[in-house]
Amino acid sequence: MKSKHKYAVFVSGRGSNLNAMFDAVRDGRLSYKPDLVLTDNPSATALEYARENGVETCWVDPAVNKGRRAFAEAAIKELKARGIDTICLAGFMRIVDKALVDAFPGRIINIHPALLPAFPGLDAQRQALEAGVAESGCTVHFVDEGVDTGAVIMQARVPVEKGDTVETLSKRILEQEHRIYPEAVQALMDDRI
Ligand code: GAR
Repeated sequence: MKSKHKYAVFVSGRGSNLNAMFDAVRDGRLSYKPDLVLTDNPSATALEYARENGVETCWVDPAVNKGRRAFAEAAIKELKARGIDTICLAGFMRIVDKALVDAFPGRIINIHPALLPAFPGLDAQRQALEAGVAESGCTVHFVDEGVDTGAVIMQARVPVEKGDTVETLSKRILEQEHRIYPEAVQALMDDRI
């Protein structure tokens, strides 16, 4: 199947969600490989997954493009030059500027390791443990100008178990992230959301 869209994945670090997209492409749950992997961090291990899978990578240097607006403008230039109209944030640890949101209306999504609107921002798993909730999970949502405030697309729940640490809870949530994010990307690329 073909999509009229082209998408970039924005990464900053480990890249397990990006890798899960490649797995999903291999086993047929996702019909589309990313067209570009863009990063703010040239040593992100995520870039290795991109290279192994033959996907172009692009580093936008935050030291050259200082501040949110300049970073967004540089990223927009790279994306437009390649005809990319869709962005999936996957462990991209920068707040997205309004200029980027305005340039790709309704076409930017993110995965967050909590059941939004609960526990936005950093250290969501730690926030959940400290709040003593009985369950947590992950959320795929549209990106707007706020921090993790955009409309929810999909969620998956996991129990918080007795004796959980940030590591054990994160691992349980991450398994669900890897399942639902490719599903959401497929729906976005097929114009079903
Ligand atoms: C994931 O758990 C993702 O949900 C989270 O960072 C991790 C990235 O892992 N994102 C956020 O917290 C965004 N607010 P990955 O690089 O292995 O995909």
